[in-house]
Parts: sequence; structure tokens; C-alpha cells
Amino acid sequence: MIKLKNLEQMKGIRRSCELLSEMFAVIKPMVIAGITTGELDREARAFISSRGAVPSFLGYYDYPAGLCISINEEVIHGIPGKRRLENGDVVGIDCGINLDGYFSDAALTIAVPPVAPKCARLLQVTRECLDRAIAAVKPGGRIHDISRAVYGHARTAGFGVVRQYCGHGVGLAVHEDPQVPNYIGAGPNPRIVPGMVLAIEPMINLGGDGVEELDDGWTVVTRDRSISAHFEHTVAITAEGVQVLTSW
Ligand code: MF3
Ligand code: CO
Repeated sequence: MIKLKNLEQMKGIRRSCELLSEMFAVIKPMVIAGITTGELDREARAFISSRGAVPSFLGYYDYPAGLCISINEEVIHGIPGKRRLENGDVVGIDCGINLDGYFSDAALTIAVPPVAPKCARLLQVTRECLDRAIAAVKPGGRIHDISRAVYGHARTAGFGVVRQYCGHGVGLAVHEDPQVPNYIGAGPNPRIVPGMVLAIEPMINLGGDGVEELDDGWTVVTRDRSISAHFEHTVAITAEGVQVLTSW
């Protein structure tokens, strides 16, 4: 069931998104060679709790951290730990916050220099997929408008599109209806209406579409072990149109 948000709920979700954006501003400059992913997670968690909020991924289906950090062939749900970032790593950072019961969700991918040209292109195209997806959101349009925008752009660039994981409704829980796939399948294609809050999140691979989960029960990697990128924003649909609530 799709839960449309009233103005008061929209206000709360907006505040949660603002705090999440501040979190990214704190963490982004720390993404340098030599730091461990566990240190990044510790900083993020300290910042979020210092503002009276809760990292919403922590404890979700027993997920053990506040950030998901997914490096190179890791697509999503990488668990922070002792691993140190190295030059040339492609680092995806995904975070959600629960502030007073209102949920935000965003992700970005950063390369630790020097960046291989094909990785730079992957990052650019994946960002463009998100930009085009957001531009495709129109009140009265449909969810598959988003899917078509992502899929078309990624395919034109010759990249793989992850199918097993989707964007989603957000705002009152970590994941809500509707699913927001990055390809057009047989699933539901609801109309986009004011009051919806969506997490749009293209996951794009240098190689094929296929992914698999590692034995840790979380980390999702590309089947062909090609590099993967992920960008995500939380957006609200109002009578005026689409508003991007998160930033990084
Ligand atoms: N970041 C994911 C999303 O964007 C959710 C992560 S769930 C967790 O939908 F359990 F892994 F944290
Ligand atoms: Co999400």
C-alpha cells in the first residue's frame, strides 16, 4: 500500500533529509586512501546520534552498521569494517536516518584518486541516470517513467543495470511501496501523485546486469566482478512537481 504523506509528515521527512545531507557533508571529505570503512561508519553514527537521530539501517533485518559502504565490484550493502580505502577504489556510501519517526535515504559513489577513465565514465553516467530519473518524475506520470529514464541512459552508455534491487517509497519507514525499478518489468506501475516520497537509486555496472550476494549474507557484488556505482536521492512529489530533499 502506498502511503501518501500529509504536510506535517512532509515537514518531518524534509528535516530528516536535511540532517542526512549534513551527514554526507561531514563524511565526504573523509573518503581518502588509508581510512577504514569502520572509521567512516563510526563518524557517521556519532554525527547522527549527536543530533538526536538514529541511523535507520542499523538493526534493520539485523544489519550491523549505520552506513553501507560498497567498494569496486560491491554493488550495495557492503558492511563497514577493517578494510582500508586504496587509491583507485570506487566507494559507494549509502545511509538512512530516522529523525523523530521520519525516514530519509541517500547514496553516492566517490572514487579515491587516481580514477580510471572507465570508472569516471561509470560514475558520470550513473549520476546522469539519477538526474534523468528525477526529471522524468511528473505528477500524473507513472513509476515506469523513472525506470525507463534510468534503463535507457545506462544501456545507451553500454552499462549493466541491476534488476534484483530497486528504489522504493520512503518517509515513514526504511522501505515502503511502491517499488521503483531501474528497468521496465512486469511489476506494478502506479501513477505518481502529490504526497508520494520516493528513494530513486540507479545501480549501474561496468559489465553485465547480474549480481549475487556474498556469504556474509549482505554484500551484493556483480556476478562478473565488474565495477558498480550507486547514486540515490529522496524526492517528494508535491502539487508543484518534484522536489529533491537530499544532497551530497
Ligand atoms: N540502502 C538501502 C536502500 O537504499 C537499504 C539498506 S538496508 C540495510 O534501499 F539493511 F542494508 F541497511
Ligand atoms: Co534506498
